[in-house]
Amino acid sequence: MTEVIRVDPAAPDEAALKPAAERLRAGGLVAFPTETVYGLGAHALDAAAVRRVFAAKGRPSTDPLIVHVADVAAIDRLVTVIPDAARALAARFWPGPLTLVLPKSAAVPVEVTAGLDTVAIRVPSHPVAQALLRLADIPVAAPSANLFSRPSPTRAAHVMEDLKGRIDLVVDAGPTDVGIESTVIDLSSGTPAILRPGAVTLEMIRKVVPQALGERPRPAEAQSPDTAMPAPGLLERHYSPRTPMTLYEGAGAVDAIVADARLARNRGQRVGILAADEDRRKLGAAGGVEGGPPIRIVSVGSAGELEAVAAHLYAALRELDAAELDLILARSFPARAGIGLAIQDRLRRAAGNRIAT
Ligand code: TXA
Ligand code: MG
Repeated sequence: MTEVIRVDPAAPDEAALKPAAERLRAGGLVAFPTETVYGLGAHALDAAAVRRVFAAKGRPSTDPLIVHVADVAAIDRLVTVIPDAARALAARFWPGPLTLVLPKSAAVPVEVTAGLDTVAIRVPSHPVAQALLRLADIPVAAPSANLFSRPSPTRAAHVMEDLKGRIDLVVDAGPTDVGIESTVIDLSSGTPAILRPGAVTLEMIRKVVPQALGERPRPAEAQSPDTAMPAPGLLERHYSPRTPMTLYEGAGAVDAIVADARLARNRGQRVGILAADEDRRKLGAAGGVEGGPPIRIVSVGSAGELEAVAAHLYAALRELDAAELDLILARSFPARAGIGLAIQDRLRRAAGNRIAT
């Protein structure tokens, strides 16, 4: 049985959250909202609880978890050193959607870090996450609360879709704000490098740490499957719908989607399109032959408002995936800078790198 507790996202009732905090302290699994996506929390210093997180998600034990704490003071016991760059980034962006990778202390179980000697830490800003972390008064390891390789959950209903019956409790505070996972930056050695782009953008980070690299350095050699991944997201297919998806990039993307959707529909295939509001007129022409299956169009908002696109992206992928389609054709969004890079990263992974240009 998975219990659902509803709380006010802006001012959560402490009495309502207490049982959730108690479950965490006792080694249970509790999904809760953060400003990015819902997380699946477990006591980070309890190895057995952490192993249950991997089991519930079906996640390979080689992919390390992020440890969530209520404030920067709580990281002292989790790490061995805090470089100046880490202090500066924490001061500027915490609480918020930024994860820092630092050298781990002996207090952090190897289960959390998949055997790496570094630990990823973040202080979330969501009032519910903050209240829960303070009540529990322990560091909480929390990956996104989805089944492994499915799109991350931005609503409690997404968590239940994937994990109902597999976890103890879901704290439901409505849709999350940012919609895509935190920016991950490695500060454990050498030049700080972004391992996963997110809402805290490279431009924002460089105002604090000018030398930061915008991309994870390429691994020197291919990793064997049973060593921990040195950087997140090396799995190409990730955050993905089950339905095969192709991402259309480049200037003629929407026209190519219209043409390909028509062809597929005329072959009798059920087609879904991930679109933007301004594509509606062009997509009207994709209707194809009379009597064929309808084309399902889901918009993520205007391509001119990338924050809103990020907020709606995963819900749209889940909606298309639930529609029992044969294929999904997705448009791309301006990816020159800012959160556009993070949106491009997630769409490319969702498409398993099936990209039409
Ligand atoms: O926004 C978020 O970060 C959400 C919310 C719940 O906080 N969490 C999240 O967790 O996205 P997860 O487990 O889905 O993604 C964590 C990423 C993975 O790609 C993992 O490889 C990376 O962080 N990571 C964790 N520990 C690491 C480490 N020590 N070194 C490098 N990467 C690490
Ligand atoms: Mg995840």
